[in-house]
Amino acid sequence: MTSGRHFLQIPGPTNIPDRVLRAMDRPIPDHRGPELPALVHAVVDGLRQVFQTRSGEIVIYPGSGTGAWEASIVNTLNPGDRALAFNIGHFSHLYAECARRFGVVVDEIDLPWSRGVSADLVRERLAGDVGRTYRAVLVVHNETSTGVTTNLRAIREAMRAADHPALLLVDVVSALGSIDFRFDEWDVDVALTGSQKGLMLPPGLAILCVGPRALAAGGQGRSPRYFFDWQPVVEEMRRGYFPYTPATLMLYGLREALAMLLEEGLPNVLARHARLAEAVRRAVRAWGLAMLCEDPSEYSQSLTAVVVPEHVDSDAVLRAAERLNLSLGTGLGRLKGRVFRVGHLGALNDLEVVATVAGMEMALRMAAVNVALGAGVATCQEFLMAQHLTPQR
Ligand SMILES: Cc1ncc(COP(=O)(O)O)c(C=O)c1O
Repeated sequence: MTSGRHFLQIPGPTNIPDRVLRAMDRPIPDHRGPELPALVHAVVDGLRQVFQTRSGEIVIYPGSGTGAWEASIVNTLNPGDRALAFNIGHFSHLYAECARRFGVVVDEIDLPWSRGVSADLVRERLAGDVGRTYRAVLVVHNETSTGVTTNLRAIREAMRAADHPALLLVDVVSALGSIDFRFDEWDVDVALTGSQKGLMLPPGLAILCVGPRALAAGGQGRSPRYFFDWQPVVEEMRRGYFPYTPATLMLYGLREALAMLLEEGLPNVLARHARLAEAVRRAVRAWGLAMLCEDPSEYSQSLTAVVVPEHVDSDAVLRAAERLNLSLGTGLGRLKGRVFRVGHLGALNDLEVVATVAGMEMALRMAAVNVALGAGVATCQEFLMAQHLTPQR
């Protein structure tokens, strides 16, 4: 099936708006020339608005979320330092593993892969750390493998309640630009992401927002680092340049993507994600299937992990979807075969979600899951229509 567009509904990379593609379709500028500072300053300004920070330092590398993990660790922690982490899914486990590779002693608490990190548990663990030995708490805001969002505000409050000085390092890879995230208000020390999800760009950039305590920790750090040392990047970016050859065309795309997000208005962007996510969840319920996420207050607004019946291999649903020109996300790690994931983030609208739900419904039936054709689509349509009929304030 080659005509029409491919439905890329994995939880990132996401679809790239034509405006962003056009902004990138241009000659390469001289990255040491006069054009760069205005571009860099616009990108920094836009990113600060999306991270909801006034003064957090923006750090950009050619890379991806994994590179951003590494940067967040080597700049804030030393070999032998202790960190507290929570295994609530594939990515939170890998983030802890990344820290371990750099000699950090990580206490990684095993939790169910269907819930977020409990703030009570954070408070308990930190209060019990009498010698204040933890240097950092690692949290993934939105666990992309499970479709579960952790309440970061509550995590920061728990850290305050325990009166613990650990840094709060947060992975917002599948949250930023899709789920409310407030760097300043929640007093986050480092937030990190990649370009390919809510920011609507191709894969290719690692982006961090760094607060003053984390910057200070970086200055005294002993972890070996060169490319990922953020100090020279911060200094050069303030002048509008980089200490390496930047991914210049991606920066043009990023400037355009940020302009689009801010034109729509961040609150509207987040509300759109919440609406589309709810439409998908209603369809899943109409099929008689369950979300992996157990607590509705922790439902992800950027993706949904759908549990398939026991006799079904979720990858069979994916294979059927591919025949319909629809890509869905596979079950990761221990969830292989048990769930499939649908991304509803980035540049996406109501009718694209209705079509995606229709495709999922067909793929489920093709994979011998007994769902009634039309059930999910109708429920999704009803919900979205009602949203449009509700008078706007
Ligand atoms: C929450 C989360 N963290 C980290 C990563 C790793 O990022 P990347 O694949 O861009 O290296 C991903 C990738 O999907 C992710 O979803």
